[in-house]
Amino acid sequence: MSALFETYTLRDVTIPNRVWMPPMCQYSAAPEGPDAGVPDDWHFAHYAARAAGGTGLIIVEATGVSPEGRISPYDLGIWNDTQVEAFRRITRFLLSQGTVPAIQLAHAGRKASTDQPWRGGAPLGADAHGWQPVAPSPVAFADGYPVPSELTVAGIQEIVRRFADAARRAVAAGFEIAEIHGAHGYLISEFLSPYSNHRTDEYGGSYENRTRFALQVVDAVREVWPDDKPLFFRISATDWLEEDGWTADDTVRFAADLRAHGIDLLDVSTGGNAAGARIPVGPGYQVPFAARVKAETSLPVAAVGLITEAEQAEKIVANGEADAVLLGRELLRRPSWAREAARELGGDVHVPDQYHRSV
Ligand SMILES: Cc1cc2nc3c(=O)[nH]c(=O)nc-3n(C[C@H](O)[C@H](O)[C@H](O)COP(=O)(O)O)c2cc1C
Repeated sequence: MSALFETYTLRDVTIPNRVWMPPMCQYSAAPEGPDAGVPDDWHFAHYAARAAGGTGLIIVEATGVSPEGRISPYDLGIWNDTQVEAFRRITRFLLSQGTVPAIQLAHAGRKASTDQPWRGGAPLGADAHGWQPVAPSPVAFADGYPVPSELTVAGIQEIVRRFADAARRAVAAGFEIAEIHGAHGYLISEFLSPYSNHRTDEYGGSYENRTRFALQVVDAVREVWPDDKPLFFRISATDWLEEDGWTADDTVRFAADLRAHGIDLLDVSTGGNAAGARIPVGPGYQVPFAARVKAETSLPVAAVGLITEAEQAEKIVANGEADAVLLGRELLRRPSWAREAARELGGDVHVPDQYHRSV
């Protein structure tokens, strides 16, 4: 029996296998007008192909809880009903393939308002659909980035409300799972880390103060997110800094807090908050961070980062390092990775009726 192809149940949602797709921005929505942030044919085809390929769970890309919360003007959004209606087409199709539809709810903070990566990804001004970013502290992400406006307490509370509104809309759009984006140096991660959070009020300084915003978002979302549906949190387990950063020890401590506040699974990534951090990238390089959370807390975890081979993925789950694996770029290359891995490992996987002759 393959561990990778066992079902996995959280609350009342059963995921058919442990091969999951992490959020990956497509930067392909209209930047302005009535279709701003609305998923279109590209998004449908992109997610549909991975569902038809047997992926157990698909987490739709970072989706802005507000226009200012987008990484680029071309990001998806979930702040209006037109967006909800368009997402329904995607969730319906995923469910028809047995794939569980999830969505990552995001605010980009000081890394908002940038161009599409294939056009260089530079910060954009108002003349190019851009806007003034906000952050816990007025500190630019890197050279060439604007100094963000420091959020007031009222501004923080408004964003907490935006996350809750987005979660309510995600339910209406047919998503079974929501993931709060607390990683990669975007707004929530900026608050967590002393590297980017220099505040002296109740949202900065001590561990309790730096985690306050994240937990307020979790509480607000959990309040509107149905009890029978799981809620994920994505974290950067370390800033990869020698000092003054968020650390793996902080992550283990925070995992227990997240569990107590109703988070059902931690999606364990790293980095993204400190532009100059040196990251030892290699096959499965982030798995030990997930494994540590799993070993030291009762919170389920998913591992991500350069997981590309069936045997490698199987071992991570079979050894109990993680409850599931997320494959990003490999699923961009091979939409039917889950089906190929099932064949290699002898696991059961969904195959669309239309493709039965390929089995
Ligand atoms: C094109 C692209 C877009 C991404 N967008 C997001 C995103 O929206 N949210 C997020 O948390 N991570 C994002 N990531 C990171 C991936 O979710 C994943 O963590 C990363 O690619 C490492 O996994 P991999 O080695 O399997 O690709 C993105 C990565 C890629 C390649």
